[in-house]
Amino acid sequence: MNADQERLLVLRREIEHANFNYYGLDQPKISDSEYDAMLRELLELEKRYPELVTLDSPTQRVGGIVAKDFPKVRHLEPLLSLDNVFNAGELREFDRRIRTVASHVQYVVELKVDGLTVILTYEEGVLVRAATRGDGEVGEEITANVRTITSVPLRLKTPLRRLDVRGEGYMPKASFARLNEEREEEGLVTFANPRNAAAGSLRQLNSRITARRKLGYFAYQISGPAEVDIGSQAEVLRYLVEQGFPVDPNYKVFRNIEEVISHCQELTLERHNLPYEIDGLVIKVNDLGQQRELGFTSKSPRWAIAYKFPAEQIETEVRDIIIRVGRTGVLTPTAVLRPVLVAGSTVSRATLHNMDLICEKDIRIGDQVLIHKAGDVIPEVVRVLPEKRTGQERLFEMPVNCPECGSATERKPGEVAWRCLSKVCPAKQREAIIHFISRDAMNIDGLGPAVVQQMLESELIKDAADLYNLESFQLYKLERFGQKSAENLFKAINDSKNRGLAALLFALGIPNVGEKASKILARYYLTMSKIKEATAEELQAIPDIGPTIANSIVHFFNLKSTHDILIKLETAGVKMTEAELAYPQLFLGKSIVVTGKLQRWDRRMIENFIEEHGGKAASSVSKKTTFVIAGEKAGSKLTKARELGIPVLTEDEFERGYLDKD
Ligand code: IVH
Repeated sequence: MNADQERLLVLRREIEHANFNYYGLDQPKISDSEYDAMLRELLELEKRYPELVTLDSPTQRVGGIVAKDFPKVRHLEPLLSLDNVFNAGELREFDRRIRTVASHVQYVVELKVDGLTVILTYEEGVLVRAATRGDGEVGEEITANVRTITSVPLRLKTPLRRLDVRGEGYMPKASFARLNEEREEEGLVTFANPRNAAAGSLRQLNSRITARRKLGYFAYQISGPAEVDIGSQAEVLRYLVEQGFPVDPNYKVFRNIEEVISHCQELTLERHNLPYEIDGLVIKVNDLGQQRELGFTSKSPRWAIAYKFPAEQIETEVRDIIIRVGRTGVLTPTAVLRPVLVAGSTVSRATLHNMDLICEKDIRIGDQVLIHKAGDVIPEVVRVLPEKRTGQERLFEMPVNCPECGSATERKPGEVAWRCLSKVCPAKQREAIIHFISRDAMNIDGLGPAVVQQMLESELIKDAADLYNLESFQLYKLERFGQKSAENLFKAINDSKNRGLAALLFALGIPNVGEKASKILARYYLTMSKIKEATAEELQAIPDIGPTIANSIVHFFNLKSTHDILIKLETAGVKMTEAELAYPQLFLGKSIVVTGKLQRWDRRMIENFIEEHGGKAASSVSKKTTFVIAGEKAGSKLTKARELGIPVLTEDEFERGYLDKD
């Protein structure tokens, strides 16, 4: 190695070190100009020795143009999110659930920085990939952009074969304010909040733009390293700091939930003083052994919870109350509001749910009210401000006739909902089509409620199946459609034919059958014709399918209207089957409980194995359990299995029976 090459390595180390002091510890030891001089010198040297430019060099952070759209990455394990709580009572309830499993618990409370999840993958100690969370299973690869975040280390202090780090990419309040000022001057649309700005910046095709946006990153979770011995979340955070990651320094460990609650209350007041926005706090069981014992539900860990700050409440006026008719004929009263900005977006409508609620809250047309966003998303009226009444306010009454078709409406005894009694109410038909095309159903891009309305009015379609018989010249005739947009929509409709059985089942809108049940059914039966033939008894034997869903399915498939629409869809070429799954479905229809400590499997691994192979990894033993896998120190679940006479397998027996079948 010559002197230049040696100098190059020294510079890299020093720049990395300076980055860490600056971004990780917030304690810069050298001036900006010294830093710039080092970086310039390194760039010079790398120009002379291009063969020495490595992925982890600090110069690679500056970035260039990302070639095309972001490639998709499948995460090693699905990335779950957290359940939310909103007050002290719900925190105590969370603690009570924890303590049924773990008698002494310590909690770590971290800030919930409002940005977006970014997963970093290190191989042999070098950052090789960064990805967004996406839908939890598949995210987007944004490596080039994440490299521009100077606080993200490109190399670990102690290399490991593989380490995955989960954390939050965010935009500090100051960068956000500056960015929006600049955009305003340039006549560009401003970002609604720092989270949108951070997400927009990380999805830039030009990394130089990302680099200028001055984003930050906080790491909080790791997975993968069998080599490191870590026993608690506090140790995870210390390990991350040691490896050069920025970790939010405001985390604290507490001995009980009451201490956690007072900390939450303090931060509710102090949060505005932080240099970045937070939308809550994350409370985690500190001990990783206890975390494993507590495990996960299908959506979120049982050992952690997000405490969301009380929603912002804003005053506005109820200008009118209108009725929306849903796809099941339910009439939902909706408040038309004077538009106001709440938690980052403009709100002009709020659902009032039903007549009982309007009476309970005594909401009248013309009232001044406080509104908030429930769970930070759905606008709702919190309460009326009766002191602001002028006497001009009007009481609201449910209409006796459907506002869409004029048919009689009815409220059945024991139900809160009023319904339109017509079977052919145009609103029901319209809403059924809007549900059919929605994102989680057939996901037809470029087709929204307004276009559906137009298609119905111009009699291009009567039901969802008619969409598949449209020609692109017919779409071209729609208002505001050009040749290109008509062709795009035609293609989107055509593409949706292949969404598969689960999406189609959900799209059909079978009462009580949501997205999850649709997936279970599709996985179990693989074809529509088998579901059509299933009896209620057969359906109920499937884990997670209860009598209500089972009866609803049987009833739905007995209807003539179902028969007709299925024939139309099938003739149009809509796929009625689910793709064959990657793994043999060894545990189809089986519900399996894992308990105690296993030698060769981590709890998460074995549960994933069961689910990938078609089974349900259940958390408690019941009559529906097919078998139990019991490890060391198995307790009450094992006893219960024995009481109910459910087969119990050891780890060895399980592996002998199922492992080589892949
Ligand atoms: S833990 C398995 N810790 O909040 C659970 N999340 O729904 C992993 N977030 O998607 C999440 N700060 O984007 C965790 N200190 C923190 C966090 C945090 C922000 C975000 C994250 C996640 C969402 C929770």
